[in-house]
Amino acid sequence: MARALRPVIAGNWKMHGTLASARALAAAVRAGAEAAETRAEVVVCPPHPHLSAVAEVLSGGPVALGAQDCHALPAGAHTGDVSAAMLADCGCRHVILGHSERRAEHHETDGIVRGKALAALEAGLTPILCVGETAAERAAGLAEEVVVVQLAGSLPERFCADGGILAYEPVWAIGSGRTPTEAEIAAMHAAIRRALEARFGEAGKATRILYGGSVKPGNAAAILRLPEVNGALVGGASLEAEAFLAILRAAP
Ligand code: 13P
Repeated sequence: MARALRPVIAGNWKMHGTLASARALAAAVRAGAEAAETRAEVVVCPPHPHLSAVAEVLSGGPVALGAQDCHALPAGAHTGDVSAAMLADCGCRHVILGHSERRAEHHETDGIVRGKALAALEAGLTPILCVGETAAERAAGLAEEVVVVQLAGSLPERFCADGGILAYEPVWAIGSGRTPTEAEIAAMHAAIRRALEARFGEAGKATRILYGGSVKPGNAAAILRLPEVNGALVGGASLEAEAFLAILRAAP
């Protein structure tokens, strides 16, 4: 059944670009996605200050807008933060949560990520929730255990029923040009699927599980056809329209 799930190709622009470059990249991705014969769902996630401008460029087209983080609370005295409702108001449909860069740099725990995921769902946003092991954890043979614990702690009860999306991003594969072997990716995605089905039943079968970490035009087709891989979360290669669109065209 999982093979029939509609793939998601999402670009995480991280902390890059200017208003002008964000508009230009969004316009190129929109034009390319319109031309591509793809059934994949396409999402781009610019930095917060560029969201409204990119929303205008994407309006009425096939590319959805996402953000890279939100606060767990709907409003309040939280200097520098943004709420899920604010993102929805800017035209976002998705929000990346629990990215390893936020877990590491902002000390986000599974509990914090869970609160943010709940807030996103309450605001009508689709979370793209990230999990993944470090190099040391993989070397110690703990990769699956670490990811299963992250899933248990980060996913609110309604996550799968409400259409939440998962992203498996091994920390050591992000921005490094290194990826797990195809067998390692397939094994981890199978483990995630088992955990989702055990906890969420039918809804767990319908949840998209993306792979992220050094996805490039050259390896995208091989990764995207692996069992239980339902799309990709792309960092560096999403900053170049041609590279991102080549990955999109590789989606089954
Ligand atoms: P890279 O594609 O640059 O490795 O980044 C992956 C990532 O962190 C996407 O969220």
